Amino acid sequence: MFRFLLFLAPLFLLIYCNRDLNQAAERKATHVYKTDCASCHGATVENFVERDWKYGSSRLEIIRSIGGNFPGGEKHNFARKMKEQEVQQLGQYIIEAIVARKQKMITEGAPTNGTYTSQGMTVQLDTIARNLDNPWGMVFLPNGDLLFTERTGKLWRLTPKGVKTEIGGVPATLVESQGGLLDVELHPQFATNGFVYLSYSKFRDSADVRLSTTAVRRARLEGDQLLEGVDIFTALPYSNTRYHYGSRLEFDKKGFLYISVGDRGDQDANPQRLGSDCGKIHRIHADGHIPEDNPFVTQKGVRATLFSYGHRNPQGIALNPLTGELWETEHGPQGGDELNVIRAGKNYGWPVVSYGTHYDGRPFTQLTEKEGIENPKTYWIPSIAPCGLLFVNSDRYPAWKGDLLAGSLRFKYIERIRLDGEKVALREPLLKNLGRIRCIAASPDGYLYVAVEEPGYIFRLMPK
Ligand code: HEC
Repeated sequence: MFRFLLFLAPLFLLIYCNRDLNQAAERKATHVYKTDCASCHGATVENFVERDWKYGSSRLEIIRSIGGNFPGGEKHNFARKMKEQEVQQLGQYIIEAIVARKQKMITEGAPTNGTYTSQGMTVQLDTIARNLDNPWGMVFLPNGDLLFTERTGKLWRLTPKGVKTEIGGVPATLVESQGGLLDVELHPQFATNGFVYLSYSKFRDSADVRLSTTAVRRARLEGDQLLEGVDIFTALPYSNTRYHYGSRLEFDKKGFLYISVGDRGDQDANPQRLGSDCGKIHRIHADGHIPEDNPFVTQKGVRATLFSYGHRNPQGIALNPLTGELWETEHGPQGGDELNVIRAGKNYGWPVVSYGTHYDGRPFTQLTEKEGIENPKTYWIPSIAPCGLLFVNSDRYPAWKGDLLAGSLRFKYIERIRLDGEKVALREPLLKNLGRIRCIAASPDGYLYVAVEEPGYIFRLMPK
């Protein structure tokens, strides 16, 4: 017996020391994070968990980012003054925090009792779909079936009875960082022509790099298959970044299709330069033709689809059913997310005017207003990371009727915005901690649906 224990002792010692070493490594990584990273990335590593990653969230990619290996990242080379092993440990530390947080979110799952009370309205969550992979866009068919995208490249039909079928014929997409299969919309006369619109990150290989851009595919839905797909819009130029695709699609009452395109991470080259399609909102006819009264149709060197400019990353567009105006939310830099009304030919200011700040808190620009630049109707500091936008137009939610609902990825709630004309009269947080809100939609029978990601769910809000 004694000999047996003696035999095991080195093993225990090894395990014990290893545990000690691991703890020391973690303490070290925590310390490095506090001293070198927290000032910009937030007090705890948890901040990374909530990120819409630009340069990738794998261990290797995080380690590269610590070394400043991203466009304009020269000053971010924190790896330079660290030991190789410390960089590895820091990368590992960030990854472990992310994994731990995600596991917690999955086990927490949907809110337990699922009842949420707001000023004047109580709703009960009804889980429509679970275990989804980043649901991004949703739209209802006239028969009550829901079409929704998963960013990782799939389009699904979900019947009111809960039968889920994959739709074939979607375009190949570049599923990296913020890219993939994004929004989905229907032609206003879908019932007669069956046209479905998808926005996605389209890619092209040039020499040894893969480039991508925001594109819109129109196809006819027959059964569970998309047929005769054509790209009716492709933003130029293509870019080597993998983020800020924008990509919301919305029809107005006259049948024009609006497409949001983000700045693709190049704030100097894109949003204010009319010759670039990025950092813009575009307007086209449902078949891709250019409306004759678009604001820049006669201007040389400017894409005639262009409708408004100076945008950063617009990921919410909603048609006001009463006025026919188009409302929009976009991600600001660090702070300075905006709610705008989109008008022909107008400049929304990015990056000349912004309420946002750099990561270290310095203002981005001293200007928050300037002549010739539209002011936001409201803005958010800190950033809520707005995504998904909808006007409530249903009698099922009397206390919210006519209000705007803006989703927040970062703080996992929906903001209800009561308007008085174009003025923001009241803001109320709804559905706190529901999850990272990607999309909000309404069914033909007047119920509100919310898609959240990581873990991916679709909920219906049942008024109580
Ligand atoms: C002076 C401010 C500052 C400090 C200090 C700083 N960073 Fe960053 N970090 C940034 C900025 C700015 C970016 C680029 C973000 C962007 O482009 O949106 C960035 C990007 C990153 C990314 C990539 C994020 C993505 O979306 O892909 C990682 C990972 C990262 N930093 C980790 C660290 C770590 C770890 C430290 C500490 C060793 C650190 N940073 C210190 C400002 C800072």
